[in-house]
Amino acid sequence: MASPPSHDADLAVVGAGAAGLYAALCAADAGARVALVSATPLAESSSYWAQGGLAAALAGDDSPDRHLADTMRAGRGLVRQSAARRLVDEAPAIVADLQARGVRFDADRRGHLSLGLEGGHSARRVAHAGGSATGRRVTRALSALVAEHAGIAVHEGAHADALIRFEDRCTGLRAGGLALRARAVILATGGAAALWARTTNPAGAVGGGMLLAHAAGAALADLELVQFHPTALALPGRGDGFLVTEAVRGEGARLLDAAGERFVDELAPRDEVARAIGQRIAHEGSSAVSLDMREVEPALFPNVVEVLREVGIDPVRDLVPVAPAAHYVMGGIVTDREGRTSVPGLYAVGECACTGLHGANRLASNSLSECFVFGRRAALAALDEPPSAPSSSCEWRAAAGAAPTPAMRAALWRHAGLEREARGLRALLDAPHPLARLVALSALAREESRGAHQRSDFPATDPALEHRHVVVAPGAPPAIAEWR
Ligand code: SIN
Repeated sequence: MASPPSHDADLAVVGAGAAGLYAALCAADAGARVALVSATPLAESSSYWAQGGLAAALAGDDSPDRHLADTMRAGRGLVRQSAARRLVDEAPAIVADLQARGVRFDADRRGHLSLGLEGGHSARRVAHAGGSATGRRVTRALSALVAEHAGIAVHEGAHADALIRFEDRCTGLRAGGLALRARAVILATGGAAALWARTTNPAGAVGGGMLLAHAAGAALADLELVQFHPTALALPGRGDGFLVTEAVRGEGARLLDAAGERFVDELAPRDEVARAIGQRIAHEGSSAVSLDMREVEPALFPNVVEVLREVGIDPVRDLVPVAPAAHYVMGGIVTDREGRTSVPGLYAVGECACTGLHGANRLASNSLSECFVFGRRAALAALDEPPSAPSSSCEWRAAAGAAPTPAMRAALWRHAGLEREARGLRALLDAPHPLARLVALSALAREESRGAHQRSDFPATDPALEHRHVVVAPGAPPAIAEWR
């Protein structure tokens, strides 16, 4: 086969969500020539739709130590403390850097950042831009900077379908019929929660980057740890799965059962709230519980209110039917604290990566901060890689596997949803999508219940599995590794 036409860069970044855009900017600011590849338009990245904000210890009564303690508590004994420490220490400076780059975070009347409260946080700590439109505001601002930056070549509409390997190193990728050669590749391709039938994610979030990395030899981990957001709209056919941000509960919204009674602390960590809703729905034989936002100031959540009104619900007057939906994959491509994978020259950041920072249950709004903290670190570390290899005698590593079908997504929801057990998980081992099979293998390997992973056949938490992660290296059975 003839080699595709090739371009050279110092760094190739795949994905134009928050992590990819910021990594590209940080590398280009350091003088690198960057190629940024994005298969989907900006409005299809998960970051664009993010309603949460950036968690950062910025309030006078807060501290990185307190942010760390909340992250560890929510993560249920699986948080890799060294990665979480990096996040909490560096997040405040990231907010300042984004402000310097023109992002306008919401402020109070005196001009101080107005910080939101979300589940599992012991302090007001979440910086928003435009209320619940944070993802949109931040990605728009960064996209404009990327488009203007002379050091960044943007390849829009180009799908990365293979990585280039030369002597065990990743030296580039193939996208849109073009070979992009670089000293390093950063994958910032987002998560995989759209593999589940009920999801808050855009349809493209099916783990493409994770499979690409795995095909190139990188290990994946924690794939059984999928966070279910407690309050996704439950209205089949009309905006079903639309995320109603947790921040509305921070401003006083309450969860009510069919009798109109509260049944859970609305600001408990997400796994606890999602589980309580799942149990209440099963007990009542209903399809949803109610979110009562009638006392919440609608101007704080303009895009939530707009979408609800579009589907015929006026949250100022009506109760909102909500139920859990797959939202965020804590697992992904194993990286160190600089975003390095197990393949030299290949990096991963954002939701496709797994630093271990989120443990078994991500603390709300830590993920957007993660995109920036680790996006910057990976960009700078990647520039220290040796120059890319000559174009002959390299290998192309492409991910194989069928696209997820509605039946497969329904099976994943049924057998690897809020509650799992061995029989259902075994049925997924024949799923047509390779990542669904790896999720099932990983979930079978964790014989306990912890955070987002609840096994009805192993309902107790096993203290021996604290700090132990399920790692799947290519061609090998799942192995348990200890991370600190
Ligand atoms: C939310 O706003 O509830 C979602 C934000 C997040 O996933 O952290």
